[in-house]
Amino acid sequence: MTNTENLILDLVEKHGRERNSLMPILQGVVSQEKFLSEEAMIAIARELDLSAADVYGTASFYTFLDTVPRGKNIIRVCKTISCHMRNKDEIIGVLEDQLKIKVGETTHDKRFTLLTANCLGWCHKGPVMLVNDEVYPEVTPQKAIEIVEEFMKKNN
Ligand code: FES
Repeated sequence: MTNTENLILDLVEKHGRERNSLMPILQGVVSQEKFLSEEAMIAIARELDLSAADVYGTASFYTFLDTVPRGKNIIRVCKTISCHMRNKDEIIGVLEDQLKIKVGETTHDKRFTLLTANCLGWCHKGPVMLVNDEVYPEVTPQKAIEIVEEFMKKNN
């Protein structure tokens, strides 16, 4: 049995085989493996007695459940209206220059992926960016660069 299959069995054991176990299981896979492989989605479908299309549909609906490999650190900049009006484009621009990638891409060393996200619920403190699980409100271009530099230094 592969590591992915073992992981899914553990998650199924923990969350159950009901339809509403699907989200926690998908999230569990993403937090361990950083993305949802086809192998994982097929194994989940088999365990929960769902179609693979059903699992894929749920995964792709929630943009937090990545279905392609991502970097070790995921940077997300909110693109929704309040943050958009507070210059999120400028934040994205400096991050693209700093990381030398475009939104949606991952750095060659696989340390950073840059994405946009829908409203993160901090609209009154926009623009907002998220690095992994950490929220950074009221970012300026300079602050955004410093935040990413900190992650670069941490060597993770
Ligand atoms: Fe960006 Fe809500 S619009 S956090």
